[in-house]
Amino acid sequence: MSSNPSESFFASSPRGLEGLLADELRALGAQDVTQAAGGVAFTGSWETCYAVNFHSRIASRVLWHLGSFDYATEEDIYAAARSVSWRHLFEVGKSIRVNLTAIRSPLKSLDFATLRIKDAICDRFRDDTGIRPDVDRLNPDVRVHCFLEQAKGTLYLDTSGEPLFKRGWRQAAVEAPLRENLAAGIVRLTGWKFDEPLFDPMCGGGTLLVEAAAMALNEPPGAGRGFGFENLATLDLKAWNRVRDGRPPRNKVRPALFGSDIEQRAVDSAKKNLMAAGFFDLVKLQRADILKVEAPASAGVMVANPPYGERLSDADELAAFYPQLGTALKQRFAGWRCHFLTSDLRMAKMIRLSPSRRVPLFNGALECRLFEFVVVAGSNRK
Ligand SMILES: C[S@@+](CC[C@H](N)C(=O)[O-])C[C@H]1O[C@@H](n2cnc3c(N)ncnc32)[C@H](O)[C@@H]1O
Repeated sequence: MSSNPSESFFASSPRGLEGLLADELRALGAQDVTQAAGGVAFTGSWETCYAVNFHSRIASRVLWHLGSFDYATEEDIYAAARSVSWRHLFEVGKSIRVNLTAIRSPLKSLDFATLRIKDAICDRFRDDTGIRPDVDRLNPDVRVHCFLEQAKGTLYLDTSGEPLFKRGWRQAAVEAPLRENLAAGIVRLTGWKFDEPLFDPMCGGGTLLVEAAAMALNEPPGAGRGFGFENLATLDLKAWNRVRDGRPPRNKVRPALFGSDIEQRAVDSAKKNLMAAGFFDLVKLQRADILKVEAPASAGVMVANPPYGERLSDADELAAFYPQLGTALKQRFAGWRCHFLTSDLRMAKMIRLSPSRRVPLFNGALECRLFEFVVVAGSNRK
């Protein structure tokens, strides 16, 4: 298919990172960049779409806009989906999955609407080719997305496949790891410069450290994975090869990265993940309690995501922990800009340091803040 410069796309992202995503999209050559809640619409060529999938650290998915329609019933949705010439978009031998999300839809059953879209695709294929594609809910070749508003629907084909935060390096699971694209966004929001020390003292599986290393070295987040657009009939192989082969050389910087966690299991997981990502030699890891750990340099950027305390016992423990953390930061981290992502909004008060910034971010459905505390020796007590 030609590199028509006017294809329309929607890149989704964690809520709160739309502005960073819009900056990334513009830098990758996207046009008509328009922010919405949870993502950014843009236009561009297929090559731009491939570049966004390959290079964006913030996007969750890139959806190709097929068309919009008015609806009142499931049958209107069926008719809209049946009017698409699917066989020109992917081969009948590819397996499919339909995803549907809705805001203020009057329909009683979104599951039934999803089923009708699947039926429409299969019926249209059967009309045109005599056969229909199989459904594979777990590992589909092609994902069709439908977004329903009150009276308007939009159909998309997913160009990403597996969500883009799955970079391919995660080997070891820990409790409550951050999604990679949220971690990358957090590192960007700290304003970290690659020649500053960066320290995650509650590193869990090391997501923030891997993403920081990848960013500093200019390693494309998509270098170790495949994409949904490779299964579409629209694939422009030359354009895709240009994107993949035209990746920039690694930056020559050697960032000073430090990680620690109170749990040895977490340190081991971070080690495994950093090794799989190829960044283990860049990071000094140790087992340590954040309340006792020494600063690894005289100044730098601290970034961490403490446990949130959703259970009551945890909430009590955290209430005792925050003032001690404030004291530890003042005693040992003067000169550091310290950032914490948490859904526990008590933190800003209980740590007894004044936040210089509080950025609203969503970790999945959980509303969080990224607090920044600029620690100045002796002077920051409320
Ligand atoms: C929400 S998890 C961090 C997840 C991590 N950002 C990731 O993406 O994998 C919180 C981590 O804080 C660690 N932790 C809890 N209390 C700590 C303390 N006092 N000092 C250091 N680490 C601590 C836990 O062991 C856990 O790994």
